[in-house]
Amino acid sequence: MTITFQLNGEEVALTEVSPTATLLDWLREDRGLTGTKEGCNEGDCGACTVMVTDDHGAKPLNACILFLPQLHGKSIRTVEGAAGPDGQLHPVQEAMITHHGSQCGFCTPGFIMSMVTAHKNGAQDHDDQLAGNLCRCTGYAPIIRAAEAAAEAPVPDWIRAENSVTFPEILRGEAAGRGAEPPKPNSAEPPASLRPTSADQLAAAYAARPDATLIAGATDVGLWVTKQLRDLRDVIFLDGCEDLKEIAEQPDGSLRIGAMVDMNRLRSALAARHPSYGEMLRRFASQQVRAAATIGGNIANGSPIGDNPPALIALGATLHLRCGDARRSLPLEEFFIDYGKQDRQPGEFVEAITLPARPKGQTDGLRVYKLSKRFDQDISAVLGAFNLTVEDGRVTAARIAFGGMAGVPKRASHVEAALVGHSWSEAVFAAAKAEFACDFTPMSDMRASADYRLEAAANMLARYFDDLGQTTTPTHVLEVK
Ligand SMILES: Cc1cc2nc3c(=O)[nH]c(=O)nc-3n(C[C@H](O)[C@H](O)[C@H](O)COP(=O)(O)OP(=O)(O)OC[C@H]3O[C@@H](n4cnc5c(N)ncnc54)[C@H](O)[C@@H]3O)c2cc1C
Ligand code: FES
Ligand code: FES
Repeated sequence: MTITFQLNGEEVALTEVSPTATLLDWLREDRGLTGTKEGCNEGDCGACTVMVTDDHGAKPLNACILFLPQLHGKSIRTVEGAAGPDGQLHPVQEAMITHHGSQCGFCTPGFIMSMVTAHKNGAQDHDDQLAGNLCRCTGYAPIIRAAEAAAEAPVPDWIRAENSVTFPEILRGEAAGRGAEPPKPNSAEPPASLRPTSADQLAAAYAARPDATLIAGATDVGLWVTKQLRDLRDVIFLDGCEDLKEIAEQPDGSLRIGAMVDMNRLRSALAARHPSYGEMLRRFASQQVRAAATIGGNIANGSPIGDNPPALIALGATLHLRCGDARRSLPLEEFFIDYGKQDRQPGEFVEAITLPARPKGQTDGLRVYKLSKRFDQDISAVLGAFNLTVEDGRVTAARIAFGGMAGVPKRASHVEAALVGHSWSEAVFAAAKAEFACDFTPMSDMRASADYRLEAAANMLARYFDDLGQTTTPTHVLEVK
């Protein structure tokens, strides 16, 4: 596999690298670019942030959980490339000096690259843009002041110029080549690393090597390598499959979302339809993780605490799976069989998910409540998604699903039954709360005790009643600030 990308304006072609070498290790150890720091090595602290530009724009990404083949055909800026060719500082660097945004300096390159990316994208929600960067000594106020001050300055030419990627097609094609007709594996063969460039190529490659590890955004798989030191052997990178990145409204009004759509693009697509879903995605990890993590990975990993599955189940989503040329579709909730067990055959992958159209005249009844120890950049202890239809003061349909309450994302079918056919009233909702104990036997772990989880789930139902009933009770943390 030849991997070609642009690094701080210079073209780089790599042939002899391990497919699971991280960008961070390569930058520091092979290129001597030690400005990019290693803090946690698991995507949490942002010290390793770089700016990566591809056909979907500029993103901040954590270099510690980014494998080199994921960078093929893209442009990378590290902190060494933040300043201009003649040494002019970037406006965010100037502002960090003026506003005293750095003390020990360890976090500073990561902050600078998040700020350079946000500045290029014209983003002004600085708290959110920097939620994935940790600073232990300066404190955030001076850093936010610096971001605010720099926001007015124009984007410097050397950063603006990275808007599009212009590598000769032959270099892209070369890296994609082996995905087209993969040889049958045999144990004497060295491990294969494939980078198909379409869903068709992926289907053929995976059918031939069903034991290969699929790598989408690598926000889970990256940690298998950096923390668990796993040797992945055969790997298939999905990043080149542009057709899996499509979001398309279908003629019947349903929305088809490709498996390789990342969390930021998903948020842009869903925030207007379902504002509560959009708000939950704003609290999914950090900018850096959201820019890499895909919807397909968040479903396929089968995690009981993945944030998307409960919300998608509440919306009645259909999952589309593909193995070779064979395709099948199933309601998403049926995919999750048991802890660590999903309805997925060898060689089968997630191709897309479809959200049904909302019936005409029906308002958005979806609310998604994420409960975690920190507001930003944290995994859920409990996530509840509620979607009720109310007609003439009566609940006519209910889809309620939870994460963090069982070994899989799961519907609260007893609670649903206690609501459907009944009036929209405080008494009905209060009585339904007891049904959570029939639906779930949660576990106690470091995030929450079983009792806390049950109580929190019941309180979310009360919150939903207040939320949709338009009572004056504040139902969001931001409302009571
Ligand atoms: C710092 C940090 C914070 C996080 N915060 C959150 C959070 O708030 N909420 C949350 O839900 N998760 C969170 N995660 C977990 C992770 O980001 C998500 O699970 C993410 O959606 C995984 O997607 P990915 O594209 O990175 O998957 P990958 O890591 O590439 O893959 C994950 C798994 O899915 C498989 N896979 C990927 N794509 C497909 C496909 N199309 N078909 C079949 N199998 C496939 C892979 O083989 C692998 O087994 C966090 C992770 C980190 C590192
Ligand atoms: S080193 Fe902490 S996010 Fe990469
Ligand atoms: S300046 Fe020391 S960690 Fe941020």
